[in-house]
Amino acid sequence: MKILVTGGLGFIGSHTVVELAKANFEIVIVDNLYNSKEDVLEKLEKITGKKFKLYKYDLCNKEKIEEIFKENQIDAVIHFAGYKAVGESVREPLMYYSNNLISTLNLLEVMKKYNVKKFVFSSSATVYGEPKTPKCTENMNRGETTNPYGTTKAMIEKILEDLYASDNSWNITLLRYFNPVGAHESGLIGEEPNGIPNNLMPYIMKVASGKLEKLNIFGNDYPTIDGTGVRDYIHVVDLAKGHVKAIQNAPDGLNIYNLGSGKGISVLELVTTFEKVNNVKVNYQIVDRRPGDIAENYADPSEALKELGWKTEKSIEDICRDAWNYENAEG
Ligand code: UD1
Repeated sequence: MKILVTGGLGFIGSHTVVELAKANFEIVIVDNLYNSKEDVLEKLEKITGKKFKLYKYDLCNKEKIEEIFKENQIDAVIHFAGYKAVGESVREPLMYYSNNLISTLNLLEVMKKYNVKKFVFSSSATVYGEPKTPKCTENMNRGETTNPYGTTKAMIEKILEDLYASDNSWNITLLRYFNPVGAHESGLIGEEPNGIPNNLMPYIMKVASGKLEKLNIFGNDYPTIDGTGVRDYIHVVDLAKGHVKAIQNAPDGLNIYNLGSGKGISVLELVTTFEKVNNVKVNYQIVDRRPGDIAENYADPSEALKELGWKTEKSIEDICRDAWNYENAEG
């Protein structure tokens, strides 16, 4: 089976390419290098011992997508490509709506034309908004998203539901990721945010390595175990394996799965574990809450286990060790 991976050189896309290759899928990558580097391709080839066809195209150009489908007998698409920085999306909403929606619509239109109807979409737990209970199950309503990035995820989910309603021969899987972190154990691929990171784990790494002075912990007065925010951190390799299982095992129709560990970890717990596992200090200070943050959320991942046969295998210690290994290997 030949799979087109959009955004295949990005953080989650690259790890998924590795797992798909291990499972012997044929892979075609399309990536415009907006938020990724071309040398990731060589690293993927080094890890897997396989070669991959890369198209350096932008999905906002529909003719370029057609070229890919003309030249390759694509059977399924896993769609990662998109802008993903929450803060930037608030400053540049038009850029986010235009890029994330137009690229996805172009892709789906070309898929329809070429009668390729198996689609896996990179969605996010952000679509739950401020959930009524911290534990999120897929049948909960999509909530009020708090930023344009999150809204593009919710809008694309809705577009895909409408598409499926119009034609039941599509097989669509929406994967709602919780907080993807960690890196490949080889130290060759991982997350490389541009500039000062917004997310917790990349920020911890910059502080541990002395590139930033201290971590600001956003609030210690939440109704959680120690007052700091609680999230479900998932190792990116576990997440990547979830995509392979979705391609292999998703039943007919439109399916939605949470991909998370099912366990919430607080900011302080993560910092302490990181320090212990890696024997490094992470200086921090408590500051005000960050607007838009919720106290606590974590996945109910039982549907993914039941229907896909997937669950996380890596621990929070593995996450901390692999992330630090990548930070140091990057050099
Ligand atoms: C955010 C986005 C989510 C996106 C994810 C990427 C929202 C509501 N959530 O999730 O859509 O998919 O990033 O992984 O837009 N924290 C600190 N100090 C920091 C950074 C974070 O204390 O410097 C805390 C936050 O308050 C939060 C936790 O760490 O409690 C995790 O934050 P972060 O890594 O930014 O992820 P989310 O906000 O959960």
